[in-house]
Amino acid sequence: MAEILAAGEAMERALALLEGGDVVAIPTETVYGLAGDATNGVGVARIFEVKGRPRFNPLIAHVADLAMAERIALFDPLSKRLAQTFWPGPLTLVLPQRPGNGIHPLVTAGLDTIALRMPKGFGGELIARLGRPLAAPSANSSGRISATTAEAVAADLGSKIRLVVDGGATSVGLESTIVKVEGGKLRLLRPGGIAAEEIEAAAGVKLSRGAAGIEAPGMLASHYAPGAAVRLNAETIAKGEALLAFGDRRAEGWQNAAALRNLSETGDLREAAANLFAHMQDLDRSGARTIAVEPIPFDGLGEAINDRLSRAAAPRDQAAPRDKID
Ligand code: TXA
Ligand code: MG
Repeated sequence: MAEILAAGEAMERALALLEGGDVVAIPTETVYGLAGDATNGVGVARIFEVKGRPRFNPLIAHVADLAMAERIALFDPLSKRLAQTFWPGPLTLVLPQRPGNGIHPLVTAGLDTIALRMPKGFGGELIARLGRPLAAPSANSSGRISATTAEAVAADLGSKIRLVVDGGATSVGLESTIVKVEGGKLRLLRPGGIAAEEIEAAAGVKLSRGAAGIEAPGMLASHYAPGAAVRLNAETIAKGEALLAFGDRRAEGWQNAAALRNLSETGDLREAAANLFAHMQDLDRSGARTIAVEPIPFDGLGEAINDRLSRAAAPRDQAAPRDKID
């Protein structure tokens, strides 16, 4: 079983494992990551092995600072501005790779672009100490809900890895927003922990969405699926359903709910994002066959919350093929 060490005492152990080509589960401000040295093929392969994730699904490379990022990818003025504004933080930029950057091709699945992010807290310090970028997908088995606590990581992956670094519950609770920068234009590949409106305000240009097809493979339907069925925009609650509530007004028949979690009593979308995965897991564990979800507004982080919920609700018989989910 994995050892769980508090972030304050885990640094040397984490470094030793990464130097040896092994993986470590680490806290970030978004979700827990399953990290391996992005320049070491053995370490990167271990990530796929532990997650049961298909090889050609590319990973995010995490950096300690902008200088490290610029050794890996080519930044135009717009991408640099976004990095300076939002890093460290929940923004991932997809950029052209700099040739000879030393990133193992398993990280990018052979693409000529790379997804880069600078995380806050323990992850950032670890990368700086290691002196090399860390490839890290969310620390969950392929197709499962992302983990926002060390306990959730250990319950899912504990038998397969040596170390989970415990930084407490993650503050954002949703994966990063992924933006592709192409020729002065921005495309939203995955809504996430920074609202699209905030990015547009900093960039001075609008984000385009969808249309060009699914470019972030984690964006397929039936991702993030809990065991229970998920019913969105529930106005009435049937007996025995679990209820994922939002705000201070309850859906009709809420007293019927077998279990209840409220994403945010005050209707705060940031709080709701931070609670989303942990509450879904709790309700799933309640054994209810269906999780009914009250309507959640689409503004700000509501876009990413609704995105994750609609994936969790996607019909399982139309599930994305196993080789397309992460
Ligand atoms: O907050 C996060 O982003 C977390 C933490 C650990 O940093 N990481 C995370 O990684 O969510 P993961 O692997 O679960 O999702 C990464 C997404 C996938 O949908 C992947 O397809 C996409 O990023 N991606 C990676 N490289 C890409 C590229 N070059 N072009 C387009 N999409 C890419
Ligand atoms: Mg993931």
